[in-house]
Amino acid sequence: MLMRTVFWDTERNTLKMIDQRHIPWELVVAEYGDYRAVAQAITDMVVRGAPAIGAAGAFGMALAAQQNATADPTLFAHAMQEAADHLNAARPTAVNLAWAIQQQMAVVAGGGEDTAETRSAMLRLAQKIADDDVEINRTMAYHGAELISDGDTILHHCNTGALATVDWGTALGVIFAAHEQGKKIHVLVDETRPRLQGALLTCWELRQRGISHDLIADNAAGHFMRTGQVNIVLVGSDRTAANGDVANKIGTYKLAVVAKENGVPFYPVVPTSTIDLNLAHGDLIPIEERPMEEVTVIRGQPIAPLETTARNPAFDVTPHRYVTGIVTEAGIVYPRL
Ligand code: MRU
Repeated sequence: MLMRTVFWDTERNTLKMIDQRHIPWELVVAEYGDYRAVAQAITDMVVRGAPAIGAAGAFGMALAAQQNATADPTLFAHAMQEAADHLNAARPTAVNLAWAIQQQMAVVAGGGEDTAETRSAMLRLAQKIADDDVEINRTMAYHGAELISDGDTILHHCNTGALATVDWGTALGVIFAAHEQGKKIHVLVDETRPRLQGALLTCWELRQRGISHDLIADNAAGHFMRTGQVNIVLVGSDRTAANGDVANKIGTYKLAVVAKENGVPFYPVVPTSTIDLNLAHGDLIPIEERPMEEVTVIRGQPIAPLETTARNPAFDVTPHRYVTGIVTEAGIVYPRL
């Protein structure tokens, strides 16, 4: 992309993020000088996608450090813990947020008497997390591209591209790499109800890169798999447990089950920052439940009788038995047989 999804403005000492709620209609870059506003932006999905949320959280902590002028390391550490708790609560499922904030808190804990130096170290760490993300995604993409053959049709869910990360992407990054290698591929893009990340964001990214694609209603995915029109399913993950159970955008589980039923390989593309080794299995992953209006209203237009109530889990867990393999920056991991 022309710019990163999440980046630091060194001249203004502020965080800037592409406001994804306006894509594909407008490119709006929002500016943040207050960590609380960053937390709100994560909750409101100005920024979304696990690695992008992680980078936003890291920069949010750097902002919190700048907002606190104290020279007293104890007072500073208290303020940073408060900021960490506030940012951590912004969205519960994507572990990259907690992962990034934990690293910032380790810098605070290891910081000496000089709070100014700790502040600089926190900004350097946020920048490194952002830079590493881009590097890791590219490495991961080329591992994953080995799974793609010339002529393949790939089914993809949600948005896992440059917008979901600092740049390049996870599952969509694999698709970009295969395209860069000259493979002739076609992508079936799940629209991804209720927030339509597939329709709005993934189609925009594929179009920008000139990659052949068709948008499909989520409900059509089973039809395309059963009739032999899909060679591989690629998705991202918001948190993957130690046993390989994968939490990802709602609807992923259904895709994985249908893929297995039809002999279609199912690969989550997951940077190691999204793997939570502290959780033994997927049932321990917190699943975010979002406002019901995301289901009952589309762009201001009610689509159900007024007063209709709805349930809106934002993620689901795919048990590892449905996972063919997990693509990471360290290579592709397969289940032990
Ligand atoms: O609710 P979102 O849009 O933040 O959900 C995003 C996803 O589920 C992605 O698949 C996931 O973050 C991994 S892709 C980088």
